[in-house]
Amino acid sequence: MPQTRFEPFRIKMVEPIRMTTRSERERLLEEARLNVFALKADDVLIDFLTDSGTGAMSARQWAGIMQGDESYAGARSFYRFEAAVRDLTGYPHVIPTHQGRAAERILFSVATRPGDVVPSNTHFDTTRANLEYGGVEPLDLVIAEGRDPRNRHPFKGNIDLGRVEALLRERGERVPFGMITLTNNSGGGQPVSLSNLRAYRELLTRFSKPLIIDACRFAENAMFVKLREPGQGGRSVKAIAQEAFALADGCTMSAKKDALVNIGGFIALRDDRWVEPARNLLVLTEGFPTYGGLAGRDLEAMAIGLSEVLDEDYLRYRLRTAEYLGEKLLAGGIQIVEPTGGHAVYIDAREFLPHLPPEQYPAWALCAALYLEGGLRGVEIGSVMFGKRLEDGTETFHHAELVRLAFPRRVYTQSHFDYAAEVICELKARAASVRGVRITRQASQLRHFTAEFAWA
Ligand code: F0G
Repeated sequence: MPQTRFEPFRIKMVEPIRMTTRSERERLLEEARLNVFALKADDVLIDFLTDSGTGAMSARQWAGIMQGDESYAGARSFYRFEAAVRDLTGYPHVIPTHQGRAAERILFSVATRPGDVVPSNTHFDTTRANLEYGGVEPLDLVIAEGRDPRNRHPFKGNIDLGRVEALLRERGERVPFGMITLTNNSGGGQPVSLSNLRAYRELLTRFSKPLIIDACRFAENAMFVKLREPGQGGRSVKAIAQEAFALADGCTMSAKKDALVNIGGFIALRDDRWVEPARNLLVLTEGFPTYGGLAGRDLEAMAIGLSEVLDEDYLRYRLRTAEYLGEKLLAGGIQIVEPTGGHAVYIDAREFLPHLPPEQYPAWALCAALYLEGGLRGVEIGSVMFGKRLEDGTETFHHAELVRLAFPRRVYTQSHFDYAAEVICELKARAASVRGVRITRQASQLRHFTAEFAWA
């Protein structure tokens, strides 16, 4: 039997990639002050910066775009979108937003107070920043295995229930709800098992706390459950995803991931406790409740994407893509977060660049080197993203130094991944020559987007 799992789609429209040389890239990276967020996308050969909003829509979605109803209030496209979200989640209250962080900001504004604390497996950076902005403490309580890049636990996104219980006992009155990220993006794109989700639900119920899912990659998570969790192999991915939502009370969603669209998001809620204030805030900052900062055509595309993403041939190919690149890197002696997650491969930059101390931001330095070496753009998940410069001038550092190569959905083919693997393995052979970096300018929030660097 042929073993190659090919891309389960044909390509109908193409976008050229402009080739660059190493000397051009050296100049371009200097101009970007060594920050790949400041590069022009046209100057990147293979863009693994994010899987967010970068996917290719299907012919069906583009056809849906033409059918978008742009009425200000009560558009047909909204009702299609609402029905798709209700069918998937079972939550009656559906609030569209322009992307995930708008959903977070609105929900947190109405459901938290300064001094609260919100546990999750790992909060994504915008989630964390939105909580902190409201004076709320985000707590990352992923299981210990989830912090160990080599540990091959099948559900490294699981939340540590013992630590959640301790939190609820000690500071329960300041916990407005529990959260969980499916899959655990900042922890390596690792899945959460249904049994962990069930136990989390039961624990929160004992303390009368709601559970909110950060659902960005719910379909990839459900496919992992199907492939890895005992007793789940015979169920449809849709049924697994529906069960996950049924265990919670609501979700925030960035549709730029598993709704297969370039822009969009939503809040969906089971009961009405936060609905009215959330809609009021929505009208103030996003738009009327039946479009929430989006065009009717975006709602139409989301409705279609939410069903397409549950195609199991697509999801098998999707998870296999990460596994395939991961296998090539491991074979080249490169430590990655194992096993590979759903949407990305994470390279352990400490292992790749053991000569660089934390103060020289090894994961940031590796990102810069990957761009110079082969025009690849990844993202640092390390101390620039999660560390801080304190008022006394000292620094805090993140527990891991990772470079995430995230894969746009339905965009790159196997040979793009073969090329990426070659570039990374060739760089590994000369790793000792990779230079560290230092920060020359930074903002106080989400500093990685705009910080400027020089070689250390
Ligand atoms: N939650 C998770 C788990 C995410 O990965 C993201 C975005 C968001 C929330 C926010 O959604 O971008 O639509 O506002 N992650 C992107 C990434 C940006 O590259 O991982 P958004």
